[in-house]
Amino acid sequence: MADLGTPVQDIASQAADPDADWSLPGWIYTDPEFHQLEIERIIRPSWQIVCHHSDLAQPGQWRSLDIIGESVIVVRGEDGTIRAFANVCRHRAMRLVEGTAGCARKLVCPYHAWTYETDGRLTGVPMKSDYPTLQLDQHGLARVDLELWHGFVFVRLADAGFPSVAEMMAPCEAEIAPYRFADLRCIADLRVRPRALNWKNLGDNYSDNLHIPVAHDGLTRLFGKSYEIGAAPWVDRLKGDLVDRPSSNPSERFYQTHLPHVPHLPQVAQRRWLYYKLWPNMAFDIYADQIDFMQWIPTGPTTCVLREMAYALPDDRRAMTLARYANGRINRVVNREDTWLIERVQQGMASRTYGAGPIGRSEVCLRSFARKIRMLIPEARLHHAPPAGWSQT
Ligand code: FES
Ligand SMILES: [Fe+2]
Repeated sequence: MADLGTPVQDIASQAADPDADWSLPGWIYTDPEFHQLEIERIIRPSWQIVCHHSDLAQPGQWRSLDIIGESVIVVRGEDGTIRAFANVCRHRAMRLVEGTAGCARKLVCPYHAWTYETDGRLTGVPMKSDYPTLQLDQHGLARVDLELWHGFVFVRLADAGFPSVAEMMAPCEAEIAPYRFADLRCIADLRVRPRALNWKNLGDNYSDNLHIPVAHDGLTRLFGKSYEIGAAPWVDRLKGDLVDRPSSNPSERFYQTHLPHVPHLPQVAQRRWLYYKLWPNMAFDIYADQIDFMQWIPTGPTTCVLREMAYALPDDRRAMTLARYANGRINRVVNREDTWLIERVQQGMASRTYGAGPIGRSEVCLRSFARKIRMLIPEARLHHAPPAGWSQT
């Protein structure tokens, strides 16, 4: 187990936090040493989404996830079981598969052709007699922890006692049940986009309620005053309900008026935009018409990649196709507005004039995230960067 130094139940507890009224300081959005610590204490031991089980419908289908210098593959075996492995040959460490998705009866290493079954067993070694002591059963692919939650496939690189996705999402189970996550199907290709942002900046923005009426005219027209947020220990919940008054914007008005009734959803969900942000770096956007997920993976102190997929239940009604199109247009504008903001926040975080900012009582999601970061890396309580080398002492 990775040593976090803090019992995991304390990380999300509600015990008094002397810094509760401060946001996270700017220096931890740029500092290389802080970055290394958060990779080890936060990203490596946390669950990361890879795909949905329907993306691995046939034996041999695989998906990959590149994260913090590791490559992980999830693959459905001949027995129908989905497993996760390091994408690393046990011979000389060659990457076994390239790209983000594929299908193979066996995983054959492109370097010297060692051959693995889709359940990870090593079954083929050319010139086997050259290695008199080699035991095939000791050299299967390295297993990676995997969790299946309502059809979504998650992996983690280390176990530090963080809760499972099922445990994190437990407070929301009843609300998501009607959406039938396990029956979803992919409706858009995986998108992976590099961003010149610290990963926390993306997550902070996702859970920031105060900017909605200031920076998102479209969402304000759509939701009116119905936007709400709440924070459970390991998951944030945000939601807005579409108002009936037709928007002045064509895409928004089209979506308001043409979104068809969705038979499997209760009345309250028909016109609800629901967002869940899971610890530490992923989120589900849940609409009546589709479910999107996004994940922001750190690649350096001031860089990350944004990984996005979209799923829906099969529905070939023309009105649904058009509603999804309108949804995409609305959210592209929202994303542009957020990108403009957080690129500038990233620049501001690098300013030596900035320490930490006050955090309002209503900002429960930002408080919850900042609290966990401070528990896991106590130097996050400092408003300015300690001298270089601080993480080694
Ligand atoms: S590195 Fe894979 S077979 Fe040699
Ligand atoms: Fe936003």
